[in-house]
Parts: sequence; C-alpha cells; structure tokens
Amino acid sequence: MKIILALYCALVWTIFTKINKAYSLNILGVFPYEGKSHFFVFETYLKELARKGHNVTVISYFPQNEPIKNYHDISLAGKLKILEEVFPIKRSYWTIIQIPIFVVNSGTQNCKTLLEDKNVQNLWKAKSKFDVVVTEQFNSDCSLGLAYALNAPVVGLTSHALVPWHFSRFGVPFNPSYVSFMLLNGGTKPTLYQRLERTIVDTYLRIIYKYFSQRVDQSTLAQYFNNIPPLEVLGRNIKFLLLYTHFVHFGSNLLPQNVIEVGGYHLKNSKQLPEDLRKFIEGSPHGVIYISFGSMLKAASMPRDKIDSILSALAELPQRIIWKWDEKTLPRNPKNIYLSNWLPQNDILAHPNVVAFYSHCGLLGTTEALYHGVPVLAMPIFGDQPANAAAVEESGLGVQIELKDITKESLLKKFKTILTPEFRAKVKSLSQAWLDRPTSAMETAVHWTEFAARYPNFTFRSAAADVPLYQYLCLDILCVLLGIPAVIMLIILTCHLNCNRKFKQSTGNKKTSKNE
Ligand SMILES: *[C@@H]1O[C@H](CO)[C@@H](O)[C@H](O)[C@H]1NC(C)=O
Ligand SMILES: *[C@@H]1O[C@H](CO)[C@@H](O)[C@H](O)[C@H]1NC(C)=O
Repeated sequence: MKIILALYCALVWTIFTKINKAYSLNILGVFPYEGKSHFFVFETYLKELARKGHNVTVISYFPQNEPIKNYHDISLAGKLKILEEVFPIKRSYWTIIQIPIFVVNSGTQNCKTLLEDKNVQNLWKAKSKFDVVVTEQFNSDCSLGLAYALNAPVVGLTSHALVPWHFSRFGVPFNPSYVSFMLLNGGTKPTLYQRLERTIVDTYLRIIYKYFSQRVDQSTLAQYFNNIPPLEVLGRNIKFLLLYTHFVHFGSNLLPQNVIEVGGYHLKNSKQLPEDLRKFIEGSPHGVIYISFGSMLKAASMPRDKIDSILSALAELPQRIIWKWDEKTLPRNPKNIYLSNWLPQNDILAHPNVVAFYSHCGLLGTTEALYHGVPVLAMPIFGDQPANAAAVEESGLGVQIELKDITKESLLKKFKTILTPEFRAKVKSLSQAWLDRPTSAMETAVHWTEFAARYPNFTFRSAAADVPLYQYLCLDILCVLLGIPAVIMLIILTCHLNCNRKFKQSTGNKKTSKNE
C-alpha cells in the first residue's frame, strides 16, 4: 500500500513539474537606456513574468535591491549616470532640434556600453538559449542585433506613444492631418501650420535616426558579430509591440494587430501615505492640488515671472498644494504648500481628497491620474508631452496650458474649469471606461509575450511594412491612371493637329490650283 502511495505521489510530482516546465519560458529583457521613468514601467511587467514562473534575466541600470525568485539581474549600474533633472523648463524650436540629437546620442552610447559588458558578452559566448527577448523600443535598435545573435524572437515595449521612426516598421500609417505627433502641439486636429510643422519635424527625426543612430549602432554591432542584418530589417521582424497607450485616452488609431495597446500595466494598488502627508491632505477642507513636473525636468529652472504667476494663482485658490520641487524653499515662502523633492505620486493621486494634478504630462503621471480619476492641468514641455497633453484635453481628462501663456488669470481660469464638480464627475467616468477591459493591461502584455515565444516562426507584421514607399502612396497607380488618359489625349491631339494641317495644306493646294 505504502509503495503504491509513494509511486502515486512520484507520478503526480513528475506530471506537476512537467506542466510547470512546459509553461516556464527563458526570457531575456534588454533595457540599455538609463532613464529611470522608462524602466519603472517595464519593471512591473518583468516582475510579473517572473512571478508567473518564467526564468527572467534582465539587463538594465536598475538591479533589484532584494533578490526575487526567477528574476536575474545583469546590472549595468554605475556605467552611465542615471538621467534625472537634466532638462530646463523651456520650449522652443531649438529644443525640438536638440532633444532628438540628445536621444539618438544616448542610444548609440547605450549600445556601446551594453556590448562592452562582460556579463552581456557571456550570453552569446555561452550560446545561451532564450525563448523570447523583450526590449525597449525607443532610442536605439542595438538590442535587436543582440537578439538576432541569440536567435530569439523579439517583443518590443514602450513607455510612451509611437516614436516617429517606429511607424513605418510596423506599418502604422502616419498621416499628419489626423495622427497626433508626439513632439508638437495640435493632437488629432492640427491646423495647416501644425501639419506642415509636423511633416518637417517628422522627416528630420527619421533622417537623424537612420543616418546617425542606426548607422552607428550597426558598426558597433559589427565589432562583435558577423552578418547582423540591417537594423531596420530586424525592426520589421519584431513580433509584437506592446504600446503604452490606450484608446480611451488617445482616441482610436489605426494599429495593426501586432501593435497592442497595454497602457496602464505599471499601476499597482496604492500604499499608505507617510503620516505628515496624510495629515496635510486630510486637513484640507477644499481638497488638495498636486503639482509635479516629473523626474527629467528641473522645476526650479522655470522662468521667475512664471513661478510668480503660478504662486499668485495658487494663493487665490482655497485648496492646499503639494508640489514636487527640487529646492528647499519657494520664492515668497507660501504657507499652504507642502514641498518635497520626492513624493509617492501614485499614493497621493489615489487619495480621494486630491482634486487636481498640475503636470508636465509625462505618460506615467498622466496614466496614474487617469487611473485614479484626477483631473489634469497639462503644461507640456518636451518629448512626448505635447501629444499626451493634447490627448488629455481631447479625451476630457483635463485642459492644457502653454508655458508661454501662463499668467495668474489664465491659470486661475484653467484651474476653475477642472475643479468644477461636473468636470470631476466626467473624469471619474472616463477613468472607469479606461479600466473596463476584457483582460487587464498586464494580462494582455504577458499573453502576447508568451504567444511570441510559443510561435517564433510566425510573423504578424502588417503588409504595409513591406511595401515600397511609392506603392504605399499609390504613386504608381496614379501614374498609370493619369498617364494612360494623358497619353491617349496626347495622341488624339497630335493626330488632330496633323490632320488639320494636312487638311489646310490640301485645301490650300486646291485653292492655289484653282487660282492658276
Ligand atoms: C535562468 O536564468 C539564469 C540567468 O540567466 C540562468 O543561469 C539559468 O540557467 C536559467 N535557468 C533555466 C532553467 O534555464
Ligand atoms: C521553427 O523553425 C525551426 C527551423 O525551421 C524549427 O527547428 C523549430 O522547431 C520551429 N519551431 C516551432 C515552435 O515550430
């Protein structure tokens, strides 16, 4: 009897481990960009993959402090300075020209640092086998070369909307007339001027990416590997792109089925607030306005007259203020403002007494506001913020203000708009619609990652990605359709002219012969 029981247990155990094994994938995460806010999004997803029993190896600048089961770090920490508070609060064409150069330069540097690393090199030297490589799609395609060398299918991740150089590789239409452009204003209803502006800036960005980023990365990769295909070709072979947007916020867009909206998966349940913050928030009878311009902008670099206008506007509002501010004090030392250079943003926005969020409109913060149903006053500065802010206004999550338009009166007007009970009720309902999905953002992201690993030999890219540009724009069809009638017309016209001339000649001849 005992023997039978033991055999039975052993059988169950083997079946159980077999099943477990069958669902356990070997996953490599490649995150060579040192921006904290980006990795902050991906980290939640990577941890969830590990929690589901997959063996996850993560190359990044942000190793875990505490070891996590199934989660292995290949740390690049210390190799580059973490990007924080690097940009001034300013907007001009000059910054629109400069920032893409900065982004592309950082990408090529990230590529070199990644491939130089001995632990990363061990991956290909030891011929490690991965079922899928998950990697950020942002400032470089270097990791696609690494994934190619490891012979693994790729799933791309973003922490923002589509970057201009990613439209064509996934076959997503970019039409300046109605597709919002991340770096510029205008959203989905641009003026003629804005359409021209985005057409020119888009071309500029794609040229920079192709001739600087991809060319440099390709030669960096060539120092380590033979025969890496052109990075643009590898870009088109990405199985799925997990895009950090959602149509309730950004509106309906034409996306192929392998570009999947998973906006919001980084959101976790809020934690208890620190005691002093909780008291500050709960002690305000009219609620609290939260202000933050994110981790990349130097808030204190804002022009002094703008700070003065903001402070004067805030002084007229009955709400208390919590402001993420890098310095110890604000000009004029206002009393109703809680200052700190670090704040638990998600937990603050989660508090029901927080009634508005004045934000630069980074996608993380905006997503958190949407999740908790807090109205947003959007003041976009750079990067994807103009497009996010346009989406905030178009979806009804909030209103926008331009840095250059800030005065005490204009700000007060905007604040009063978003603080009305009707506005807040609409935002709460928008928040519910955004959360109401057949599967959660995280489940969706994990599902398509596993799917890519299960069917590595299939490709799901839209045919639009493979069509030459002249065919994509139907220029050949236009040529034929306009060309054939044009040729026929030309033939008829020449015949007509010729006949006419001959007729004239012959009648002329007759006339002269009659006169003779
Ligand atoms: C899991 O990943 C680690 C680190 O990359 C590796 O050393 C280990 O062999 C992997 N385990 C399995 C079962 O593949
Ligand atoms: C994919 O194709 C390769 C090479 O043809 C083959 O060895 C492999 O078994 C295929 N994988 C799957 C999951 O079908």
